[in-house]
Amino acid sequence: MSLAARLDAAASVVLPRMGAPVDIAIALGSGLGGLAGAVTDPVTIPYHEIPGFPVSTAPSHAGRFVIGTLHGRRAALMQGRVHLYEGWSAQDVALPVWLMNRMGARTFIATNAAGALNPALRPGVPMLIEDHLNFTGTNPLIGANDEAIGPRFPDMSRAYAPELRALAVAAAAKAGEEMAGGIYAGIAGPSLETSAERRWLRSTGADAVGMSTVLEVIAANHCGMKALGLSAITNAADGGPDQQPDTIEEVLANAATAGARMARILEALVPELP
Ligand code: 6GU
Repeated sequence: MSLAARLDAAASVVLPRMGAPVDIAIALGSGLGGLAGAVTDPVTIPYHEIPGFPVSTAPSHAGRFVIGTLHGRRAALMQGRVHLYEGWSAQDVALPVWLMNRMGARTFIATNAAGALNPALRPGVPMLIEDHLNFTGTNPLIGANDEAIGPRFPDMSRAYAPELRALAVAAAAKAGEEMAGGIYAGIAGPSLETSAERRWLRSTGADAVGMSTVLEVIAANHCGMKALGLSAITNAADGGPDQQPDTIEEVLANAATAGARMARILEALVPELP
């Protein structure tokens, strides 16, 4: 099925249920789904009720849209997303982003949990994504292009809109929250990096590594949305072969700490978004 036909089928269920259009689209990463609790008067739409929609199998991903008012703005939040490593295609992974553009969104905010390749990044502190490296080996735009949705060769030179990044930096300062900045490398997973891959990823200029976001941000740029990205740094990924693996408890605790900081940054940021 074409992308347009897939979006038509999904929109036929979502648009009549969602109420007024949204301005802002947000994808919530692993351990960050609680950010949807800030939405008032929410309409929730489980992904399995949307025809042709990818449904997550990953833990701590609820798998639904939460649509309503977020800090005074109309927003659609993805509580759960799908990943390549679950077996979904790149187009499947990006489909919700194109759909949220159909829902009216002109700004897309990706959040995720990521490992720190740069030893200066501290677990529990959010990182503003300045740019990305797509090392997934795929791209959601492979295949026929629909010019009605976006161009064949979309510009990616300002993939994370500089004006939105400036607003995010100002919002973090206003909220009194520490926020790092850096380059996010997206890999397919599900295996974590080898020690040699960590050294190689670091040498490419990456500061953090994770298994989401890059395909979504490509789709957002394709359909003309401005994109922003925030990584919750949950664990170090900078060690050699002697590095002790992080316990899942530590990773989840760091996701919660970074998520709480992210929530306060978003509270200051969302009202200022275009
Ligand atoms: Cl892809 N790698 C590591 N080391 N930590 C992560 C991750 C990847 N994604 C989330 N945390």
